[in-house]
Amino acid sequence: MDIVGVIGAGQMGSGIAQTVAQRGIEVLLCDVDLALAEKAKAKIEKTLARLVEKEKITAADASAALAKIVPVADYAPMAGAGIIIEAATEREDIKRAIFAKAGEVLGAGAILASNTSSIPITRMAAGTADPARFIGLHFFNPVPVMQLIEVIPGLATSKDTVARTRAFAESLGKQVVLSGDEPGFVVNRILLPMINEACFVLGQGTASVADIDKGARLGLNHPMGPLELADFIGLDTCLEIVKVIFASTGDSKYRPAPLLAKYVDAGWLGRKTGRGFYDYSGEVPVPAV
Ligand code: 3HC
Repeated sequence: MDIVGVIGAGQMGSGIAQTVAQRGIEVLLCDVDLALAEKAKAKIEKTLARLVEKEKITAADASAALAKIVPVADYAPMAGAGIIIEAATEREDIKRAIFAKAGEVLGAGAILASNTSSIPITRMAAGTADPARFIGLHFFNPVPVMQLIEVIPGLATSKDTVARTRAFAESLGKQVVLSGDEPGFVVNRILLPMINEACFVLGQGTASVADIDKGARLGLNHPMGPLELADFIGLDTCLEIVKVIFASTGDSKYRPAPLLAKYVDAGWLGRKTGRGFYDYSGEVPVPAV
């Protein structure tokens, strides 16, 4: 791919843009307005500068990557992209509106991919102009660091689209797991029930935030405990994924933990709002309860 379109310049979209640009590929980055895409580029510049400071990359590498990221005000310039990756808010109505607009500019033969973490690919594909060229491409946060990408074909996705998407993912230096179009795919189907269960454990008073996370870090060798990771992902995103898995399986074992829902109601969404299971207002995060 010579040009990649990324729609959504939040945490995931920015991470995808940075990763693609660091492989020398041009990225057209779009959000609801140009200012947001430009802000994301400025943030990526800071991240790259930190990598230069740590001597992970050279200053020349950083400026070359930065030059590959082009904030755009609308999707029109993406007509020349080989793949357009949607990484917007995890809401089906928002994503569907994006696919309709992106479909108007999508080049003949180009692929339309969604970074959804749980919404069925087959269902979203049905609303696009060419479901054979629609696919799930699920990155993990922080994208530049995490080794994995899940590739999720829908029922109508062509073999050619799967092969080209896989080749693209591997060209980013990532490992691929091919997943069926089932709720939560592979990784979130395993991860989110664990995070949800940690919320039940906390809600039932079995252990404190600090001890639940310490248990997973020291007892399981996880780099982050489940509550710390939930804050990192965003509690709203976690709740959305659990709801999707619960609704599509109908299995009560996936019912969302009341405490998780309450935190989202309170607007305590984790790192991005400064408060979740931890308080991020100081130098070091501390358990908020
Ligand atoms: N670009 C490039 N490199 C970066 C980077 C970026 N944007 N951000 C961090 N890094 C590098 C750092 O330079 C550092 O490299 P080094 O170890 O060689 O010096 C390395 O990544 C680790 O960063 P830090 O030292 O800042 O931080 P930690 O050592 O504490 O690690 C972490 C942070 C990588 C986030 C680690 O805690 C971790 O792996 N946590 C679990 C993350 C996880 O599970 N993610 C998946 C979430 S689920 C998901 O995304 C799916 C979605 O659908 C919900």
